[in-house]
Amino acid sequence: MPVISALYEPVATELGKVCAIFDDQLFSDLPVLNELCSHVRRFRGKMLRPALLLLSGKACGGLTDEHLTLAAVVELVHMATLVHDDVLDDADLRRRFPTVNRVEGNEAAVLLGDYLISHAFHLCSALDSQFASRRIGQTTNTVCEGELQQVHHRGDLELTEEQYLQIISRKTASMTATCCLLGARYAGANVRTTASLEQYGLHMGIAFQITDDVLDIVGSEESTGKTLGRDLDKHKLTLPVIHGLSAASPNECRHLRQLLSASQPDRPALRTALEATGSIAYAMQAARQYVESAVGFLDPLPPSESRDTLQRMANLILEREQ
Ligand code: IPE
Ligand code: IPE
Ligand code: MG
Ligand code: MG
Ligand code: MG
Repeated sequence: MPVISALYEPVATELGKVCAIFDDQLFSDLPVLNELCSHVRRFRGKMLRPALLLLSGKACGGLTDEHLTLAAVVELVHMATLVHDDVLDDADLRRRFPTVNRVEGNEAAVLLGDYLISHAFHLCSALDSQFASRRIGQTTNTVCEGELQQVHHRGDLELTEEQYLQIISRKTASMTATCCLLGARYAGANVRTTASLEQYGLHMGIAFQITDDVLDIVGSEESTGKTLGRDLDKHKLTLPVIHGLSAASPNECRHLRQLLSASQPDRPALRTALEATGSIAYAMQAARQYVESAVGFLDPLPPSESRDTLQRMANLILEREQ
């Protein structure tokens, strides 16, 4: 099964430099902090957001040192949201290893997340222009709004598809949109191309979270390397469940509601129920539509290896296993 990170060849050298900047940010004179940060440094993820930023830049002309700094900044922000997310979702496993909250406790994990965000803004403020700082600040506001909206709607079986799409646009896709926009903008792309890449990032981010939410129900922890089923455990409604509740017959609906309201919902039983209502297929079809529209937004770009890679990355989201 092809993995998204196998596609990053056009920016492989630059990504290596981004990892070096990232690691460098997390050295401290305090042994206790180095211990915590080594946890974050050791376990690398897919580097999707830095790759999007760099590929967008390269597809729009070329990369500068600012791109490298910004790519490290977005990965720091992403890492912070993951460390906090694992506290919110009470998760045990991330990137194949025990989460910071599991190893060091919630207090240390909350503070480490803050520390990562703080490093991201400190690093970003080193750039000459304030454009990126403002844009990233706006995006982190939006991500927090999305997570807060999600917490507010926990257990809300009336949550609509439209509200769900708003939540995931905020918590996930706003960040991928910003990565693509910054990549284009710092490569000197014109306003139209920059806006189009932003839309590519937004639509691919929505597709990415929809497939992530499908994996939460049908995926394996062995492939994803992270705790699954927590959306169900925490009563956070996602697209397959929202569809299931609206498409099921009265009998099926009663069964679904019963499964969902358990304090530890039965994941295999929910999977079977949601497959029977065609809800997993429905969510995947929705993801497919967002991938198609994402790819359409690459139209203004001239042909290049990076553009092809952005297109392939979007398509590969539909085959995600991790
Ligand atoms: C996980 O993001 C959080 C979501 C938005 C679903 P990734 O799947 O990109 O996580 P890493 O960085 O590869 O671990
Ligand atoms: C997290 O969504 C989205 C963020 C912005 C952090 P999830 O809670 O679904 O992410 P995973 O599945 O734990 O990676
Ligand atoms: Mg989570
Ligand atoms: Mg979460
Ligand atoms: Mg998830």
